[in-house]
Amino acid sequence: MKEQLEKIRQKTLEALAEAKESADLEALRVKVLGKKGDLTALLKQMGGLSPEERPVMGQLANSVRAALEEKLTEKAVELQAKALDKQLQAEAVDVTIPGVAVKTGHKHPMNKALDEVKDIFVGMGFTVVDGPEIELSDYNFTKLNTEEGHPARDRSDTFYLTDDDSVLLRTQTSPMQIRVMEKTKPPIRIIAPGRVYRKDEVDATHSPMFHQIEGLVVDKGVTMTDLKGALENFAKALYGEDAVIRFRPHHFPFTEPSCEVDVQCFECHGAGCRTCKGEGWIELLGAGMVHPKVLAGCGIDPDVYSGFAFGIGLERAAMRRYCIPDMRLVYENDVRFLSQF
Ligand code: PHE
Repeated sequence: MKEQLEKIRQKTLEALAEAKESADLEALRVKVLGKKGDLTALLKQMGGLSPEERPVMGQLANSVRAALEEKLTEKAVELQAKALDKQLQAEAVDVTIPGVAVKTGHKHPMNKALDEVKDIFVGMGFTVVDGPEIELSDYNFTKLNTEEGHPARDRSDTFYLTDDDSVLLRTQTSPMQIRVMEKTKPPIRIIAPGRVYRKDEVDATHSPMFHQIEGLVVDKGVTMTDLKGALENFAKALYGEDAVIRFRPHHFPFTEPSCEVDVQCFECHGAGCRTCKGEGWIELLGAGMVHPKVLAGCGIDPDVYSGFAFGIGLERAAMRRYCIPDMRLVYENDVRFLSQF
């Protein structure tokens, strides 16, 4: 029995020397020291020994077990250290290798222009509000005094979303006037920027999707003078004190009187070129005094309150601001163009 014990010890130590992974160690431990292991099996035979031999063999077996357990633990620690070393080497980072430079982008010129416009109006006490691009015809037209049959409602101009033409992609941000007036009591002073859609062919100054910034002021005693002052102030803040603008009489169903504001063309300074289509001026915004019918329709008494409204074409404002000659450049997202701003 003593020889058998010695043999187990020897064989286990040999196997231990060859173990390469923690899993090998665990298998070895089970094989030798486990419930059905070699050593355990041997100990079960102790019953056959004489009473004098039994304690001696018992002690011997225990010391072999203790020695093997110690060796197993030692080896486990060793293997763990090795595994860690290997992992550290595999995951080593060479901090001396030059890094890849990250290119920082910047805002699109349209967003820059929008931010400037917002800043200017917020500076005049306006609040910025947001509204839906999918709109009811009621809000886009009817409540804006644009009756059924009006040419602006034509299917050749507007993207309708339902067969009965009751829902559409808003053709202007003006429905925001209605949405605000229905919900808010005067004094009102808001701007509402956003996308609008029209069935337009793409050219240097047109796109089927573009951006407008609606403005609305309603209070007691608001006059055309307030409109002119606010818009002149806006144009000079955006384009500089020397910017040349003009007010031109116009017609909108929801304002009376109405006007359009043009800025002198930055390309030709009024001589006429492709950008301004030979006009010398670029249309910047439409405006006017809110029609009494529109006020009344929103529950605001036109005998007490008056207001003015305007709608700025953001693309054209940005083009004038940054001297961009063709609107298509704004949408193409060519970095050679965008990186100039
Ligand atoms: N909504 C008009 C347009 O798109 C512009 C406008 C806004 C005119 C507000 C008057 C008042 O042409």
